[in-house]
Amino acid sequence: MNYNKKTVKDIDVAGKKVLLRCDFNVPQDKTTGAITDDKRIRAALPTIQYLLDQNAAVIACSHLGKPVATFDSYVKKQAEKGKDPASITEEEWKKSLAKLSLAPVAKRLAELLGREVIMAADVVGSDAQAKAAALKPGQILLLENTRFEKGETKNDPALAKAMAAMAEVYVSDAFGAVHRAHASTAGVADYLPAVSGFLIQKELEIIGGALADPKRPLVAILGGSKVSSKIGVINNLLEIADTIIIGGGMCYTFAKAQGASVGNSLLEADWLDYCKEMMTKAQAKGVKLLLPVDGVAAKEFSADAAPVAVEGNGIPDGMMGMDIGPKTIALYAEAVKDAGTVIWNGPMGVFEFPAFAEGTRAIAKALAESGAITIIGGGDSAAAVQQLGYADKMTHISTGGGASLEFMEGKELPGVACLLDA
Ligand code: 3PG
Repeated sequence: MNYNKKTVKDIDVAGKKVLLRCDFNVPQDKTTGAITDDKRIRAALPTIQYLLDQNAAVIACSHLGKPVATFDSYVKKQAEKGKDPASITEEEWKKSLAKLSLAPVAKRLAELLGREVIMAADVVGSDAQAKAAALKPGQILLLENTRFEKGETKNDPALAKAMAAMAEVYVSDAFGAVHRAHASTAGVADYLPAVSGFLIQKELEIIGGALADPKRPLVAILGGSKVSSKIGVINNLLEIADTIIIGGGMCYTFAKAQGASVGNSLLEADWLDYCKEMMTKAQAKGVKLLLPVDGVAAKEFSADAAPVAVEGNGIPDGMMGMDIGPKTIALYAEAVKDAGTVIWNGPMGVFEFPAFAEGTRAIAKALAESGAITIIGGGDSAAAVQQLGYADKMTHISTGGGASLEFMEGKELPGVACLLDA
């Protein structure tokens, strides 16, 4: 796939109406709806500011969460969860939508920009159309949650066309959503000249650069709970990396494949053969595949559970693995020390519980002190690095969870493929 795409600097936006797709899918407090982390809004600011400075009229849009766009589908979904369909009201459905309004984002964006952000009540309805038509150069309008339109996730050409009709240029800066072929992330590019914003440009340059032509040795650290969700990444990185380090819940399936006992640890029995294959493949390719040599276990999955040090890669009966141990930390830190590039996706243990955060913290510290180009995949790894206080020590923390994962899998990203080649 060609990642060399035209950017907002390669196109004339002065005085034009620009449809800007952002990823404003931000975490919110369940009770109050307050935005708990505005990183994704901040990450879009350079492109927004540039467009406004160029005197463009910016029509920003984004999805937020996973709203159910029609009442019928809402009833179906609730019924699947065991609710009596007859008890479900339209009012309840509308309330579920209201919780996912982009209004709080408009408010935060206005604070960050220090200027008014006009909010539309819909995506391509009469309010959006009227406000987009009246929008003047240097002003910014935010459309309502794109997933309020049922055509969004289906990549409906009619929706894409209606969105495109409000603007003259399409700029995508929604890196977190480039793995989605939706109307606002890909379809709209069929109707407008389409270029990337600065965030997508940066993510493509850094992650794409590390995958295509890494400063070596390239060390990939893979963690998280499931081997099954990391298969594509392991497969792809086995072709590229010099060393692959495995941690997190998924290391117990590897340990079992090596013949170790894993107690009550997370285990994906269906993937044992795959793990064996990967170990053989790594050996054949000369890729170092590092697995834990000791661990920290607990009797139950709880923040209060007593940590028990475990020698070797096995976990005793009645216990579950919760973190990597000190010998493993030393082994992994040593591999990271002389790396040219480190790509990290997935925590080493249950970092959310302080008693089991040491493995993830120590690896973050090793990355921070390594002098390597350090790239952190979005999602859990980004949250871990942030929570443990190492965020500003990394070269790049991706704003995309699923998107960075699919990028590292070597998959084509529809939201990038649709942009004009440079
Ligand atoms: C994300 O949070 O990873 C992106 O915004 C994509 O969201 P989605 O998984 O709901 O498509």
